[in-house]
This record gives sequence, C-alpha cells and structure tokens, in this order.
Amino acid sequence: MDYQEVLDTVREKVTPLIGCGRVAQYIPALATVDASRFGMALATADGEVHGVGDWQHPFSIQSLSKVFSLALVLDRGGDQVWRRVGREPSGSPFNSLHQLERDRGIPRNPFLNAGALVVVDHLVSLTGDPTRAVLDLLRAETGNVDIKVDDDVAKSEAHHRHRNAALAHLIASYDNLTNPVEVVLDQYTALCAIVMSCDDLARAGRFLARHGRRRDGTRLLSRSNAKRLNATMLTCGTYDSAGEFAYRVGLPAKSGVGGGILAVVPNRCAVAVWGPGLDKSGNSCAGLAALDTFTTVTGWSVF
Ligand code: DON
Repeated sequence: MDYQEVLDTVREKVTPLIGCGRVAQYIPALATVDASRFGMALATADGEVHGVGDWQHPFSIQSLSKVFSLALVLDRGGDQVWRRVGREPSGSPFNSLHQLERDRGIPRNPFLNAGALVVVDHLVSLTGDPTRAVLDLLRAETGNVDIKVDDDVAKSEAHHRHRNAALAHLIASYDNLTNPVEVVLDQYTALCAIVMSCDDLARAGRFLARHGRRRDGTRLLSRSNAKRLNATMLTCGTYDSAGEFAYRVGLPAKSGVGGGILAVVPNRCAVAVWGPGLDKSGNSCAGLAALDTFTTVTGWSVF
C-alpha cells in the first residue's frame, strides 16, 4: 500500500467538502479558527508516518483527550471506573444534562462530557495530576516534548463552562464524584485544551492499533483493555452520530469539537484528521468525509 498516494487521493476527493460545517461557537477561543483548514496523518503500527495538508498544524484536541484519560485509568488498574460510568451509546448530545439525571448520576459512557468528568475524577485519585500524566504519555508516544495545554483556550472554556459545572455538580449530588468539583473541572478543562497536530495524534493513537503496546514495546494496556477501549470508541466515540459513523466509516474513532477525529485500524494504523467545521453532532464534517473515503479507498474497516 502506498500510504502517501492513499492520503493524496483522499484529500483530492474531499476537497469540495473542505470548509463544510460550522466551527464550534460555544468556546469563544475556538470560534475564530479558520474553517478551511484540513489535515490528515496516518501512523502505521510498525512506525511509518505520512501526512497531507495541514497535518503538522496544531489544533485544540478537546474531547480526543477523553481517549487518553480513559487509557491511563485502565492502565493504572482503574477497572473500578466501570462501576461509576456505563459503556452504552448515548443517542443524546455530548453535554446532555437530561440524560444524566435520568441515569441517576451514572453517565452513559466515558466519552460524554459527564462520563469524562467521572474518568478525570478517577484519574485525580490515581495520579494527583491527570493533565501532567496525559501530557507525559502524549510526549513519550509522539517524541514531541512541546505538546502542551493552550492556556487561552483553557481560560476561554473555563469562563463558559456552566454546563460542564452543572454536570459535575449533578454527578456529585449522586455521590459519584470523589474529589472537589472545581478540581475535577479544572483538570477536565485543561485536558480539553491540549494542542496537537494530526501528526502527533496519529503517533499518540498508535498503541490502539498495536493491541495496547506503546512506542517502546512496553504495554500501556492489556490486549483485552485495548479491545475494550476500541470497542467503546466504535460505539460511543462520535456521540449521537455513532451509528452513522459506523455505517460510513466502520472504524473505532473519537471526535472533538476542535474538529479532530482519531480513528484506529487494528493491527495496521492510527489515522488522525482535522477539519474545524462541525456537523450537528459536533463531529468534523470534512473529517468524517475523509475517513469515509479512506476506508472506501483502502478497504480497511473492522467489518
Ligand atoms: O467540554 C466540552 O464541551 C468541550 N471541552 C469538549 C467537547 C467535545 O469535544 C465534544 N466533541 N465532540
């Protein structure tokens, strides 16, 4: 397979869609991002990396951080987290309060904002500093020591986090938060504000294509937990569009409102794509089209 040719073909086919959708408005620092950006990178399980377009341009990873927080919780023996958060697709928006109330403070899955707040709370208890732990992991897997939190995005989100604060307080009201609400919210907000490129993300996600094995050959996750994390991404990683995403792409994937999507082809590669314009569920419009085209061109899906 000529990976560079595949990426060039994908970019050519999605060119008419680059710029589609609407850039996230509810985090003011994200609302100014240029919608016409597009990048895609592919990191193979055995170490090759290829990219196209703005693949080395850093952007706000937002909910993509939820994959790495959950991986670290599972790595540190935090299986108990599954008593505090479910693993069913939500069919609801990623920041729904209504569903959390109906589920009596046990978020439906770890990739909803509510679920990620519980995961981050668990990681506070396990590590004391989830942001540091996630940054250490990302820097080690990518070799990029400059990966960091964008303080402007973090501050911007912190000023507009009323809904996440409401979710965290509701979870606490059901006794499903161990640490102070403000500590958990600050950590969650910082994690969402991490900045990475498609190049970084594809490298960082490679352990998911390697059954949990890290860049240095050691294990981040057991084979079983790597399967579970991929399965949860497939069913819950793209919110109330998880069905449509599976239908069109057929890969485990996680999206973020910064316009990034990280997808995994088990045994083969991790693919990261970025297009800041979002569809109504909060998934990158051009990113979804690019991954749809990618699995069509390569024939690589899990089905
Ligand atoms: O908490 C939030 O709402 C954002 N920081 C992250 C949401 C997000 O990326 C959902 N993704 N599609």
